[in-house]
Amino acid sequence: PISVFTDIGAYRTWRAEQRTAGIRVGYVPTMGALHAGHTDLVRASLAANDKTVVTIFVNPAQFAPHEDFASYPRTLSSDLATLESLAPPESLAVVVPQVRDMYPSGITQDVAQQKGTFVSVDGFAHQMEGAARPTFFRGVATVVTKLFNLVQPDNAYFGQKDIQQALLLRRMVGDLLMTYPTPRTLHIIPTTRDTTTGLALSSRNAYLSEKERDFAPTLVSALRAGSTAAAPLATARGLVEERVRQAEEQGVHMRLDYVSLNDPDTFDSLTDEQYAALRDAELTDGPGKPIIFSGALWVGKTRLIDNLILGDT
Ligand code: PAJ
Repeated sequence: PISVFTDIGAYRTWRAEQRTAGIRVGYVPTMGALHAGHTDLVRASLAANDKTVVTIFVNPAQFAPHEDFASYPRTLSSDLATLESLAPPESLAVVVPQVRDMYPSGITQDVAQQKGTFVSVDGFAHQMEGAARPTFFRGVATVVTKLFNLVQPDNAYFGQKDIQQALLLRRMVGDLLMTYPTPRTLHIIPTTRDTTTGLALSSRNAYLSEKERDFAPTLVSALRAGSTAAAPLATARGLVEERVRQAEEQGVHMRLDYVSLNDPDTFDSLTDEQYAALRDAELTDGPGKPIIFSGALWVGKTRLIDNLILGDT
């Protein structure tokens, strides 16, 4: 079987041995409830490193008090079986840290009452997902700093599914001079989707009822239609509105949280007009920069997110 470390001291000993042996360690951080999106990250890591470490940790700091920390799916035994099926046991190690080891100063859902050390990526945590979830990226940046300190990866793998998270963490790693000795590089892997509907795989898809499942691909369909339109935002919003009405007739309550166009370097948002001007300029100036086209959609009580990168050639 694969090595599973719940004790962080035991993991550190293992990691030191790998370093002595000159073994390159790739790393995939997860919150468990593993699906094909996660396993694609693990495969990318396995292909480029001697060994791969997967952490499974449902991080309390990235859930607001009203969010789904308590009900988030926890499926450790099937997660381990999934990982076992991917590679020979000696090329994988799984770390399942305890909350008290990850947060020695304690962790409370009430940010104002918190005592301890947290990491904020100023100016990059309030757009897109951060607008709806103001303390989310503080929780993510903090836990990933801790996890990098623990795991000591040579390479780390993140999904495009959570593009703002991946880009914000890449910036954090640069800003905090974390790139050497570890992680040398933070890799971003394309989103894994349901092949028939295009729905991005997500642990939260498990919350959807059968009827809700029919409407869950609304966001990706709208983003795809918008991606080839002159006015991506208006096009996507229009399509979502139409599906929201159809869903309502079938007793499924959907609500668009946002769709947004953002610069990948600054996270500044663009209007449809600004986007069109950018694309017009390309006709004379040659290829411009890619733009993040992202959104969040409530399907019943489940909040789904997705994104496409526009103009990435
Ligand atoms: P989690 O949602 O479990 O996702 C773990 C990693 O898998 C993230 O990098 C995420 O972007 C990636 N991922 C999820 N669904 C994907 C899909 N359909 N295709 C490709 N990659 C996908 O993201 C987190 O956990 C947490 O915030 C974490 C980084 C672990 C910090 O707690």
